[in-house]
Amino acid sequence: MMKEPTHHRHLPCLFLFLLSLLRPITSDPRARSVKITCSPQLEHNETVFVPNFVASMEKISQVVQTTGFGTAQTGSGPDGNYALAQCYGDLPLNDCVLCYAEARTILPKCYPQNGGRIFLDGCFMRAENYSFYKEFKGPEDTVICGNTTKRNNATFGDAVRQVVRNAVAAAPGSGGYARGASENGESAFALVNCWRNLSPESCKQCLEDASASMVDKCLPWSEGRALHTGCFLRYSDQDFLNKIPRNGRSRGSVVVIVVSVLSSVIVFMVGIAIGVYICKHRTIQKKRRGSNDVEKMAKTLTDSSLNFKYSTLEKATGSFDNANKLGQGGFGTVYKGVLADGRDIAVKRLFFNNRHRAADFYNEVNIISSVEHKNLVRLLGCSCSGPESLLVYEYLQNKSLDRFIFDVNRGKTLDWQRRFVIIVGTAEGLVYLHEQSSVKIIHRDIKASNILLDCKLQAKIADFGLARSFQEDKSHISTAIAGTLGYMAPEYLAHGQLTEKVDVYSFGVLVLEIVTGKQNTKSKMSDYSDSLITEAWKHFQSGELEEIYDPNLDWKNRNDSIIIKKEIVRVVQIGLLCTQEMASLRPSMSKVLHMLKNKEEVLPLPSNPPFMDERVMEFRDGSDGDSAACASLATVSQSSFYGR
Ligand SMILES: *[C@@H]1O[C@H](CO)[C@@H](O)[C@H](O)[C@H]1NC(C)=O
Ligand SMILES: *[C@@H]1O[C@H](CO)[C@@H](O)[C@H](O)[C@H]1NC(C)=O
Ligand SMILES: *[C@@H]1O[C@H](CO)[C@@H](O)[C@H](O)[C@H]1NC(C)=O
Ligand SMILES: *[C@@H]1O[C@H](CO)[C@@H](O)[C@H](O)[C@H]1NC(C)=O
Repeated sequence: MMKEPTHHRHLPCLFLFLLSLLRPITSDPRARSVKITCSPQLEHNETVFVPNFVASMEKISQVVQTTGFGTAQTGSGPDGNYALAQCYGDLPLNDCVLCYAEARTILPKCYPQNGGRIFLDGCFMRAENYSFYKEFKGPEDTVICGNTTKRNNATFGDAVRQVVRNAVAAAPGSGGYARGASENGESAFALVNCWRNLSPESCKQCLEDASASMVDKCLPWSEGRALHTGCFLRYSDQDFLNKIPRNGRSRGSVVVIVVSVLSSVIVFMVGIAIGVYICKHRTIQKKRRGSNDVEKMAKTLTDSSLNFKYSTLEKATGSFDNANKLGQGGFGTVYKGVLADGRDIAVKRLFFNNRHRAADFYNEVNIISSVEHKNLVRLLGCSCSGPESLLVYEYLQNKSLDRFIFDVNRGKTLDWQRRFVIIVGTAEGLVYLHEQSSVKIIHRDIKASNILLDCKLQAKIADFGLARSFQEDKSHISTAIAGTLGYMAPEYLAHGQLTEKVDVYSFGVLVLEIVTGKQNTKSKMSDYSDSLITEAWKHFQSGELEEIYDPNLDWKNRNDSIIIKKEIVRVVQIGLLCTQEMASLRPSMSKVLHMLKNKEEVLPLPSNPPFMDERVMEFRDGSDGDSAACASLATVSQSSFYGR
């Protein structure tokens, strides 16, 4: 069933083995975004800006995997790109890769602004069109205080001041990073980290300014963070630090070395696997592409009904007026537009320009637009040869599902009956993509923001087929975009193994989100062990599923509540079958649809989701080999439609 490339065959076992060593030590990439700030100026010339940005991200991604830090400069002049990324010192390298992947997924949201900076809890990233590497303070410097718990006990304040002071004193002399934990009585934890390119004096200055304002403004709150131009600081009454620092000197130093060697090995191996995979595909792609049919294509293209004139779309969207912006996703920004005949459309303005391969692009658009199904958003056409590459989609007035299920008020619009219809519709769309359309399409980025709702609140899947067509071209931004953490199947994340089961997994996550109204990626830790899936699995095991239902399902007060209750449990069970760790155990989408529709049929019991339990991580002989924590596939190309 699964097509597993042969060169992957031994990797999973090795991988699992290594991870079983790593697992107890490393757990949390802390890939939560704390704050993103975009630069005030607009990019100067997109044609130059985007490739430069992408190139810098690629260069950094090479070094960050081995050192936890990187800078890169690409091009010069107004659209030159200067970038920097830094993981905080306690983050193991494999988690660093994840945090970096998340950062570079989010930062392009600043576009068309020409730069920005993003602080996550595990790493920092900044890009500008000038060299900012010596800067360590500026008007954007700020602190963010935890605002849920106050610790009014003076002992706590003293403990915090103490650990912060010590860490600030130690960091400039030890690569810019230090951590601290209070030994006596009150627990207080601190992390301080300068960007590694700063001189010890600048680092010291940054830390002193930042710690003074953090302690001053945030105490007695239980938590505080300082986000300064040259450094990041955090204190908390909870131990948020990873257990063993990468460059720690104390007890665990042998383990530390083993860990970092192992993570480099893993990064290296995955790199090779991806490399082999990409090379193979490249060759195929080259063979496929004739040389002289470009001109012929260009003509077909202008004659085709799929072709929209650039000026038409420009007019329809009010010259891409910000007021018409619907959202931003992996491949570009989406605007609402109205055609001269009154038809509403959604226009996606791609981050990159495809003029140099307009024929290929057109080919893909042609294929994708021929895929028609009631549960798929229609691609109406493109502007492939104008000054920018644009895609034209049908417009759906209710926008995307995430706007409903994750919103306490809008969530009321969707009672259980409606949600069930959406789940079934999404399943039908996926069955069509996987099994019934003329080209088999694996979506790769099924998530709530990619499920759009029409006026009758029927589900329509957006953005299918794009990842397929864009993944091979390294020059554009999609390769700079990592997938959506929380929706990616473990075998895809770790090995890039792409089968329909990757979509089945994401669909399972989506189902659980629809039932609980909670976002998997936003759960407490961005780690599998604490995910929504695990929570659902545990509640399913203990028969206490009701506790995690979204109150907006509003099923209790109905007179058919018993039937509904049974139906919800059944749907959760299907969701859990879809998110099983072993890809081969996950049902196909047609099987899923069958199970959804035949409500009397007995369902199999789900086996565990990924990383339920440390013991599961032991070396496993199974050749299915799908486990693996979040490794380093930072270049999985993805897409999303109305942003997140
Ligand atoms: C943007 O840069 C490209 C490549 O240098 C150039 O051909 C194009 O004319 C520029 N566009 C604008 C609007 O300046
Ligand atoms: C950065 O971009 C802005 C806006 O395009 C431009 O005014 C500025 O001169 C650029 N900076 C450099 C160093 O080129
Ligand atoms: C804490 O701050 C966040 C963001 O500023 C805000 O949305 C939230 O309401 C605040 N909570 C409390 C308890 O003040
Ligand atoms: C603060 O907490 C510590 C330990 O929990 C306790 O011994 C001390 O009496 C408290 N001080 C005040 C002022 O409440």
